[in-house]
Amino acid sequence: MKKADVIIVGSGLASLQLARHLSKDLNVIVLTKSFVKHSNSTYAQGGIAAAIGTSDTPYLHYLDTLEAGCHLNHPNAVMQLVQEAPALIEELIKDGCQFDTDEAGALLLGKEGSHNQRRIVHGGGDQTGKRIVEGLIQHLSSNISIYENQFVYELLLDDLGRCYGVKSKDQENCMHTFTAPYVVLSTGGCGQIYSFTSNTDTITGDGMALAYIAGAELADMEFIQFHPTLLYSNEETKGLVSEAVRGEGAVLINKTGERIMENVHPLKDLAPRHIVAQNIYNYLRKGQSVYLDIRSIRDFQMKFPTVSALCEDHGIDLSKGLIPVAPGAHFVMGGVQTDPVGQTTVDGLYALGETACTGVHGANRLASNSLLEALTFGKRLARHINSNPGKHIPIHKNKKNTTFLFPELPEKELIQRLMMERVGIVRSAQKLNEQMEWLESFQLEKFHEFGLDLLTVEQINRFFMMQTAWLVTASAIEREESRGGHYRCDFPNERSSWQGKQILQQRLLERRAFNEQIKS
Ligand code: SIN
Repeated sequence: MKKADVIIVGSGLASLQLARHLSKDLNVIVLTKSFVKHSNSTYAQGGIAAAIGTSDTPYLHYLDTLEAGCHLNHPNAVMQLVQEAPALIEELIKDGCQFDTDEAGALLLGKEGSHNQRRIVHGGGDQTGKRIVEGLIQHLSSNISIYENQFVYELLLDDLGRCYGVKSKDQENCMHTFTAPYVVLSTGGCGQIYSFTSNTDTITGDGMALAYIAGAELADMEFIQFHPTLLYSNEETKGLVSEAVRGEGAVLINKTGERIMENVHPLKDLAPRHIVAQNIYNYLRKGQSVYLDIRSIRDFQMKFPTVSALCEDHGIDLSKGLIPVAPGAHFVMGGVQTDPVGQTTVDGLYALGETACTGVHGANRLASNSLLEALTFGKRLARHINSNPGKHIPIHKNKKNTTFLFPELPEKELIQRLMMERVGIVRSAQKLNEQMEWLESFQLEKFHEFGLDLLTVEQINRFFMMQTAWLVTASAIEREESRGGHYRCDFPNERSSWQGKQILQQRLLERRAFNEQIKS
């Protein structure tokens, strides 16, 4: 067993920013299920939104964020986010992060969907995430120990429900225990519960499942952002084609060359993501292909090296100027409910980045606000921990009975396909209920009661996918309206009765305590 002052689960941008800003006197352990640079953050193509242009202000950024979020955002949280953005960019530059500039050295600002100003700071064209992640890793000091290939599968709770550590498994399925007064979940979102996704293979909703099982409150899980343009080849999505490509002038066309976003929304190809994604989905459903027409973009390969490499890897001839696209799961606006410093409803447990629901995104996230959220909240939590050193809680014995015969879980591909079909871009009560019935037939609550010690990493991963799929489905059933990343064809409009209402999910720990009593 290893003891630390802070345990960070996950190694994306929010985790690294937290680690970077924690006091050097603290013993910090970062546990990551694969290797440190393998995260959605590293592969992020967009950039960081910040109101630094001459005609821009944080207030305009705030308005665009609320508009994209369909006014379900928490206004104070958004205001703080946008106000802190310009200083965070300056800090990264001081730390040596190289963002793209013009010949005079001024930052080049890109544009993405729903932004009314050019305000996206980027590095290496579409390699912003990689640049920042590598920069932060270089600044990590010796008090930070990174353990790779450690899959955290259980949060340790004392009798009062306080979190005091985690259990993990390595690649050989050997168990390890780590304890700390601060446990921070920052494992990204859950894009991999869908068959069409921009997310990297490790993003399976782990933090959300862990928090839910530990009794923390989750909010807004029905809001899944489907990014309109993933490269589409052989009926599969192959990776992200950044919205910045449309920001530079690319347009969406059908096979006869007609622009499909004309007359759909005043912002046309840069309309909010859910509107563009739903429109492309309707074409694909009718068997009609949709393409990004990039012929108007000069020096495409220089501006978008990652997208170009992706296309080349999949046999797309860029000289023709047409990239076939389909929408796929990209970002979950909901997550583990947190307060302004990242504290969850479980003592000792914190959440950051896409794992958390901080209230800044509402029903749909504004492009390039996710790296900003990770940087802002990572730093804020560091400040909180630095000024409130925690105390270790005495360790409790694991009382779980592990002799239970677990039901066999479905294969990953089946989970992904059914989520896409039944809880995807267009939802209905009938499909959602079918999915709920299917998910519940696997008795997920039995896994909570009996613990996961005897399962392999691969089995636990599938269980976490099922648990997160359940959270998304349960919330989507409840919200009988359409808003942002949640579209119900049986309730196709926003309804004022749902304005400002969040759907919360929380596991009843009392029931577990009651069951424990009966067993003993
Ligand atoms: C993109 O580059 O299109 C994605 C950026 C984001 O989701 O913020």
